[in-house]
Amino acid sequence: MGNTLLINQLPKAELHLHIEGTLEPELMFRIAKRNNIELPFSSVEEIRSAYNFSNLQTFLDIYYKGAEVLQTEQDFYDLTWAYLQRAAVDNIRHTEIFFDPQTHTQRGIAYETVVTGIHRALQDADQLNITSRLILCFLRHLSAEDADETFDQALPFIHMIDGIGLDSSELNNPPEDFAAVFTRAREAGLKCVAHAGEEGPPEYIWGALKSLQVSRIDHGVCALEDALLVEYLKENQIPLTVCPLSNLKLKIFETIADNNLLELIKADLCVTVNSDDPAYFGGYLNDNFHALDRALNLSAEQIIQLVKNSFDASFIDESLRHKYLAEVGAYE
Ligand code: ADE
Ligand code: ZN
Repeated sequence: MGNTLLINQLPKAELHLHIEGTLEPELMFRIAKRNNIELPFSSVEEIRSAYNFSNLQTFLDIYYKGAEVLQTEQDFYDLTWAYLQRAAVDNIRHTEIFFDPQTHTQRGIAYETVVTGIHRALQDADQLNITSRLILCFLRHLSAEDADETFDQALPFIHMIDGIGLDSSELNNPPEDFAAVFTRAREAGLKCVAHAGEEGPPEYIWGALKSLQVSRIDHGVCALEDALLVEYLKENQIPLTVCPLSNLKLKIFETIADNNLLELIKADLCVTVNSDDPAYFGGYLNDNFHALDRALNLSAEQIIQLVKNSFDASFIDESLRHKYLAEVGAYE
């Protein structure tokens, strides 16, 4: 409880953030109105009260529905800019943002519209002293062919993205299915990450590491079920982007106190804390740290280590990494 100020003030990196998951009900209403879209809700309160999820799929169904209001380049700009302003309040200095192009191209929105709107806002983030990377996520409930076509659409704008990821419904959609498109992305010089071990088994983490050759695992909280995997993650210092409030809302863990963050830290893994879809899960990055701090009684050293890990695990250049780590060092 004594760490409130420390958490608020520390400069941080966020590495697991779906931009579509930052769509607050107020902005959803505003964008729906200007696009002449009728929402099946009459108020912001009604939308918020619909955010009760029993697992990943019940969340995804609502999240994909909410994203349907996004249509123009300006919509994607406004969405991203709203998140960046909120991130600045939490003293986020660097953010690595996921976007799900297939959620929009499937509705007839051009890939170019999506990526240019997000990218323009990320460029403006220097006004907020925030640096960024952009990561294109493939939806794993769609086919490998669909992912391949999406990558074709991304190629003319490849300079706007830094990496690729894999998200959406994990169960029964193993990472190996997407090996070919990840190879194409790697050969194009992109970084690779994947959601694995959120609802799925440790085998999916192995699959992401071996078949997709990812340099980070998004979630990965089931890793502790497999001692050999823990050893591998430790030896190779593969970062895990853990999302505590997300895991709570999607019933991966029953309470925040049941979260296995301390066990992951004790196993010497490179753990980072992130917000995932903050508009849907009831909290931005600092809220995630505060919830952990209250439930697990974290030490100041543990909080500082988590924040250092976020910069170590990020895709920034070494000189910027050293600058940010030096800023964190002022709190030690
Ligand atoms: N897309 C947005 N949030 C996600 C999550 N937590 N898991 C998988 N796909 C997602
Ligand atoms: Zn996620």
